[in-house]
Amino acid sequence: MFVGIDLGTSAIKAVLVDGSQSVVGACSRSLTISSPHDGWNEQAPEDWWNATLAVLDALAAAHPHEMAQVRGIGLSGQQHGAVLLGDGGQVLRPCILWNDVRATAECDEFERRFPQSRQVCGNVAMPGFTAPKLLWVARHEPEIFAATRHVLLPKAWLRYRLCGEMIEDMSDASGTLWLDVGQRCWSDAALAATGLTRHAMPALVEGSAPAGRMHPALARRWGMKDAPILAGGAGDNAAGAVGLGAVAAGSAFVSLGTSGVLWVTTQRFRPHPQGGIHAFCHAVPGMWHQMGVTLSAASSLAWWSRTTGIAEGDLLAELPERVERPSPVIFLPYLSGERTPHNDGAIRGVFAGLSSGTTRADMTQAVLEGVAFSFRDVVDVLADAHSPLTQADVIGGGSRSRLWISIIATVTGVSLHRLAHGEQGGAFGAARLARLAVTGESVRDVCLAPQRVETVHPDAALSGAYDVSLARYRALYGGVRDAMR
Ligand code: XUL
Repeated sequence: MFVGIDLGTSAIKAVLVDGSQSVVGACSRSLTISSPHDGWNEQAPEDWWNATLAVLDALAAAHPHEMAQVRGIGLSGQQHGAVLLGDGGQVLRPCILWNDVRATAECDEFERRFPQSRQVCGNVAMPGFTAPKLLWVARHEPEIFAATRHVLLPKAWLRYRLCGEMIEDMSDASGTLWLDVGQRCWSDAALAATGLTRHAMPALVEGSAPAGRMHPALARRWGMKDAPILAGGAGDNAAGAVGLGAVAAGSAFVSLGTSGVLWVTTQRFRPHPQGGIHAFCHAVPGMWHQMGVTLSAASSLAWWSRTTGIAEGDLLAELPERVERPSPVIFLPYLSGERTPHNDGAIRGVFAGLSSGTTRADMTQAVLEGVAFSFRDVVDVLADAHSPLTQADVIGGGSRSRLWISIIATVTGVSLHRLAHGEQGGAFGAARLARLAVTGESVRDVCLAPQRVETVHPDAALSGAYDVSLARYRALYGGVRDAMR
């Protein structure tokens, strides 16, 4: 029996997976984000801990027999966040999250101090990544920077609470801008550019390797017979890939979660920093991946739902089952700035083309389409990066909407496979990594692809009309950027 825990942005989820890879229990607790200023996004690590205790307490109450048999725990986590710890391991300030864009100016500073960073770390410096956040703290909160002894990503901090050790896996470490991604080790030069050394970093392991053993007192709390082994785990996208069996070169998926991700597994480290492609280590040894990220995907619909005061399901129910024409309204989903392809922390969202005849349904459709256009931008830069896509699996909470999937397929020209269990995401992949760490089985034997229930193809009848909307969407970006500076 294995447990996978996904420390997401909107929730902590845990799944209990048996020896035949069936999910026998699942539980989640939602999380909130605090945004004290425009473009800032923070969470208190203690909230993650309390939610983790709550989900594991609930799993233990519902499945005492299975919890007693747990041999391994895998962790998946939202990437890039900076948890700063002082001398005694205490948290010094709220975690600055992946979708926080305050460190925009610090990105230039980082690249000036470490001019080889794009080649070594595989990415353009972006404010969401961890290293620029530390430069921001050094400049704006010098007393906190001076007190910082360790910097952990969210799930490494969760591991620290679960087992007392500071260990990170390669896939998540890739999102710090401190990793030499090709060599799979910390880069002293990148660390020096932020005034840090390896002493501040956790030990590195592969995602499928053992990485600590749970405190016996916690194991007793959850009725586990023996304290389980923790696996290295993965950043949430790499964990999602493991869950989908996307471990061979060329496997691709779209994740329609809080953020939107287009992922392609690669055999080698293939940096393509222009256009904002991320080149990271995979969570399995000897593999890498490329991905493009749109910062506000399912969170754009969540924002629209909060703004209108209408549940997401009810908003979607106002739309036809099948799109008849693109919305006359264009939505730019840049609520927290954008990564791929613009790397622009200052841009913000916009609705354009409103008229006195505009309906709420037009605007909801525009939100779905805006996210689809941002995916199209990513597909185009992935093609430039030698990863052209014709098909991909689709996962994440947003994949519950068939309509949204069909809009994305048509706008991107990529056929999308709907899966039997597309919503389990990172937690299921993390449980697989736990199994690999405990049993030593091969990645190929464990990381099987889930059943595809349907393939949604681009709708050729709509592609011409969507090309017109896409051109408007792209033109708007330039106009809004100039107008808002
Ligand atoms: C990836 C990224 C997001 C977060 C969301 O680079 O920033 O996908 O991991 O959880």
